[in-house]
Amino acid sequence: MTVPSCRICGTPLHTFLDLGHHPLSSAFPAPAEPLAGACDAFRYRLAVGHCERCALVQLTDDVPHERRPYEGYPYHSSGSATMREHFRATGRRLLRTELRGHRAAFAVEIGCTDGVVLRTLADAGVRPLAFEPSGRCGYGGARVHRAFLTAASAREVVATEGRARVVYAANTVCDVADLPELFAGLDELLAADGVFVFEDPYFGEIVGRTAFDQFYDEHRCYFTATSVRALAERFGFRLVGIERLPVHGGQLRYTLARAGRRAPAPAVADILAEEEARGLTDPAVLAAFADRVDRVRRDLVALLEELRAAGRTVAGYAATAKSCTVTTYCGLGPHLVPYVCDSTPAKQGRLTPGARIPVRPPAAFGAPYPDHALLFAWNHAAEIMAREQAFRAAGGRWILYVPEVHVV
Ligand code: TYD
Repeated sequence: MTVPSCRICGTPLHTFLDLGHHPLSSAFPAPAEPLAGACDAFRYRLAVGHCERCALVQLTDDVPHERRPYEGYPYHSSGSATMREHFRATGRRLLRTELRGHRAAFAVEIGCTDGVVLRTLADAGVRPLAFEPSGRCGYGGARVHRAFLTAASAREVVATEGRARVVYAANTVCDVADLPELFAGLDELLAADGVFVFEDPYFGEIVGRTAFDQFYDEHRCYFTATSVRALAERFGFRLVGIERLPVHGGQLRYTLARAGRRAPAPAVADILAEEEARGLTDPAVLAAFADRVDRVRRDLVALLEELRAAGRTVAGYAATAKSCTVTTYCGLGPHLVPYVCDSTPAKQGRLTPGARIPVRPPAAFGAPYPDHALLFAWNHAAEIMAREQAFRAAGGRWILYVPEVHVV
C-alpha cells in the first residue's frame, strides 16, 4: 500500500479520520440507471490526514480528474439569499478596500460562482474576468476564460488584459488539485501590489463543530491560518489579512500579497496564536474529533431507527454535497430517509449518490409535511427555518447533527 503523501511537500500524511468508501458527491443517478455502470457506482476512499511539515489538512486519496464531472454540474453558489447577499457584500468590500481608488482596474475570479461578486465589481467600473474551465456558470455576463488558472493560461490573459489588481476565489482553492501550479498562475497574473483573496471552509470550525460532512471529494484541502501562511511563503507570497466569515458553517477569508509588499494585519497573528493554543493538528485533538464524528453517526442512526419504529415520517431537507458524506458514512438510505427535497432542478427526479434516496422538489416538503426533517443544509439553517415556519407550526421537528445530534 502506498502511504499517502502531502500534495505540497511529499511528506507522508498522518491519517486521522477514515470515513470509508464513498461515491462522488455530485453523481446523482436517474432512477432507471442500473446499479452497475451508474454514475454513482464509482467509489473512492474518503480519509483525511495532515502533513506535519506544512500543517496542511487534506484528503489522503485523490479522485482522478477524468472522474470529476465538470459539465452539467448542478451547483449554484448563490442559491441561497444569504449567499447572494454575502457575495454582494464581498464585492462591495473589495471596492472599499483593495480596489479603492482603482475603479478601472482588472480583477479576476477563479472557480465557480454565479458571478455576483464580479457583477458587483463590474457595476462599479472594474474590468472583471472569470477563470472557469467548464463555462458552467452564468457569471452574470462577465467574460469567462475557459481554463484553470495556470502559468500558461495566466500569460495568455495578461497579454491582452494586463495584470490583475485583485484575484478572488470562494470555495475553490480547497478544491484545486495542483496548488503549485495555481501559485505559478498567480505569480504571472497579479500586479506587483496585487492581492489574492480567497475564502474556504475553516478546519478550525470543522473540528469545533464536528462538521465532518465538509469532507467530500470536491474539497481536497481544509485550510487553517497556519497552513495558508506556510503555503503562501513557499510560493513567494505572504499572508497579510484574515477575516472570519459566518457562511457555510464558518470560513476564513485570507488575503495574500507578494512577499515584502505589505505587513500582516494584527488579525493574522491573533488567529495564528489561537490555532497554536488549540493544537488543531495535535494527535490527541484529532483523535477526540474522530471519536465525536463516530458518536454523531451512532446517535443519528439510533434516532432515525427509533423514529421509524415509532411510525414517524422523516424527510431529508437539501440534497447537499455534504449529505453524501453523511448518508454514506452513516449507512442511511430510503429505509430511514424515504426522500429528500431540494431546490436544484437538475437533482430533482434523481437519486442521491450511493444512498439512492429519491430527490423531490421543494413543493413536496409540505405535501404533506413529514414529522421530522433531517436538515442536510445545516449551514443555511437560519434562512431555511425562517422560510419553513409552517412546518414547525404544523408540529414538524428539525433534526440537526452539527455539532451533535439534536432535535429542534
Ligand atoms: P450548500 O450548503 O451550498 O451545499 P453543498 O454541500 O452542496 O455545497 O447547499 C446547496 C444545496 O442545498 C443545493 O442542492 C440546493 C439545496 N438547498 C435547498 O434545497 N434549499 C435551500 O433553502 C438551500 C439554502 C439549499
